[in-house]
Amino acid sequence: MSYEEVSAKHGISRGKIWKLALRHNARKNEARIQERAAARARRRKEFLQELLNASTTSDVLDFLDGLPDESVALHITSPPYNVGKPYGDAHLIDKHRFHYYIGWLLQVVSELARTTAQGGVICLQVGNTHTDQGARYPLDCVLFEHLCAMGLTYQDRVVWEFPHGLTPKNRLAERYEVMLIFSKGAPKTFNATPARTPQKEPDKRAFKGPNKGKLSGNPFGAHPTNVWRIRHLGHNHKERTGHPAQFPEELARRAVLLYTMPGDLVADVFSGSGTALAVAKKTGRAFVGADLYYEDLRAQRLAAIEPDLASTLPGVTPESIAIWAAEARAVTASATPS
Ligand SMILES: C[S@@+](CC[C@H](N)C(=O)[O-])C[C@H]1O[C@@H](n2cnc3c(N)ncnc32)[C@H](O)[C@@H]1O
Repeated sequence: MSYEEVSAKHGISRGKIWKLALRHNARKNEARIQERAAARARRRKEFLQELLNASTTSDVLDFLDGLPDESVALHITSPPYNVGKPYGDAHLIDKHRFHYYIGWLLQVVSELARTTAQGGVICLQVGNTHTDQGARYPLDCVLFEHLCAMGLTYQDRVVWEFPHGLTPKNRLAERYEVMLIFSKGAPKTFNATPARTPQKEPDKRAFKGPNKGKLSGNPFGAHPTNVWRIRHLGHNHKERTGHPAQFPEELARRAVLLYTMPGDLVADVFSGSGTALAVAKKTGRAFVGADLYYEDLRAQRLAAIEPDLASTLPGVTPESIAIWAAEARAVTASATPS
């Protein structure tokens, strides 16, 4: 019954009703608020246990509401850009009024911030959206200051550069998107080596100092930069699942290996075809994910994956191995007594 109805029935003021409700424990008070918070924390823990190492069909905010505070080591995700992509069967979920869309996205990001563990990281892969008048609007620019205002720490703005894409008539062709990387406090993990790239000159040598003449590059490859050159998946690529906005695994792989250790929890709240979850499973991380659609694609993809913790490091190439092997032989030969 509403305040108005009780007031009309009993002829007493709103203030009096409020006091009566409080006396009979029918209003929020501190004890009830704490009780509810504890019950919610228990429910969230159970929810996570149930969904661990699986994905589910869910609206993003419902799913995030189920996750415990500070439970995720790495949120890696890419939201819909509100550009009318034909996701699922509704074809309307990517077509909202601009301000509604931005408000919704900020709610999602605020929930990502709540559920990220201390020392955990959020990687948000974004491109351009557009306003109701059709003007293009870069999402990383909208999100940046809000992520800072949520108390997160800026780590990087990675440019994902791809060589192919559409070529519009009256403006520059788009050949990059952006991955915003924020952490909660200082990041607990930063593993450069699995994200190293092949050295441009693997046989480069120091030209002065005590190491003069010795190979000067890191044998595991060049230190990773904030420009990631990764091709979009071609139509016949073996990773292709039929999802309309599927990302290459290499994009997720770098982020997962840089910012987590095996066993850490990785989440993708807009899982789509399950790219980030597949990478998490392959690299021995725990994972959870959700999307309104594509559960069959994800289930099929995840079922086919075996964890693989022994693959070659991407910065190490047959050429660099040959150069370092020759160097090792030369050192051994000069150290052998005649
Ligand atoms: C950019 S795609 C993600 C693609 C994914 N990274 C991949 O590699 O397959 C965005 C996804 O958000 C999903 N989505 C859109 N609105 C949603 C909502 N309200 N709740 C959950 N998922 C939603 C779409 O179905 C779509 O799969």
